[in-house]
Amino acid sequence: MPTLEELNKLYATDSINFQVGEGGLPKCTITHPNATAEFYLNGGHMTHFQPTEHQPVLWMSSESKFEAGKPIRGGIPICWPWFGQAVEENRPQHGFARNTNWTVVETQETVDFVAIELKIESNAETKSIWPHSFELKLRFEIGKKLSIELETRNTGAASFRIGTAIHSYFNVTDASNIELSGLDQVDYIDQLDNNLPKQQQGEIKIREEIDRVYIESGHQVSIVDRTMNRVIKIKKSGSQSTVVWNPWISKANRMADFPDDGYRTMVCVETANAFTDVREIAPDEQHVIMQKISVA
Ligand code: BG6
Repeated sequence: MPTLEELNKLYATDSINFQVGEGGLPKCTITHPNATAEFYLNGGHMTHFQPTEHQPVLWMSSESKFEAGKPIRGGIPICWPWFGQAVEENRPQHGFARNTNWTVVETQETVDFVAIELKIESNAETKSIWPHSFELKLRFEIGKKLSIELETRNTGAASFRIGTAIHSYFNVTDASNIELSGLDQVDYIDQLDNNLPKQQQGEIKIREEIDRVYIESGHQVSIVDRTMNRVIKIKKSGSQSTVVWNPWISKANRMADFPDDGYRTMVCVETANAFTDVREIAPDEQHVIMQKISVA
């Protein structure tokens, strides 16, 4: 693993700097005229994004652990190569990408944005968990908007299937007082009701625990936060499923890395390839899933 000095020598720009983060883990801070942001190489995990003149967009748990090889709570975990619980025993929930140390490929800075590309590749350790050859690239473009692109390439001789979630935790004033629009009339799987299929009627309002996978969702979901006078728009491509999650009171209590009252100020809207939307990737083929976040 390169040292911070090496990372800075190779990849720092006026706005990009590598430093020691929480738990002694390496983090990258971005201070561009259009936005500030921060991500950890552990998990390729974005923990902060704030366009200039706006409030922070991402919610972070004050109780998050920052341990190498463990997921960070809040921000944007990358769930890959499966979403949710693995069918096989001893495989981590939501895959291993969020537990893996990512490598920096390149950085770029313009007057409008900075871009950073990270990657992980299959090796003996990943193959002991998931027996496939792959290259996974993660590209952040940070400016007035935040774009996240995840490209899976099959570098092996056999096809494989992947589930994914760009598992974004958004910062809201009061989860019980927001509306999520863009999913009216969309069918969903209710993960809190034996995965029963149901259909959304109107906008989503959160008054209790919610854990749903919307199938065949459109290309934009908006979080309308009237108290903050803000709308967060989430646009996407390469994804037909959208996960909406808030643990509410008792699940928040049960999670060691989640503050008891944290459910009040967050909601997860995840750009996914989940359930019927998992993707089969043939040898030498690739799949790109992309999420773009803007605020108004
Ligand atoms: C969501 C799932 O995507 O992630 C929920 O739909 C899950 O069921 C949540 O509780 C958090 O998962 P984890 O593994 O980060 O605790």
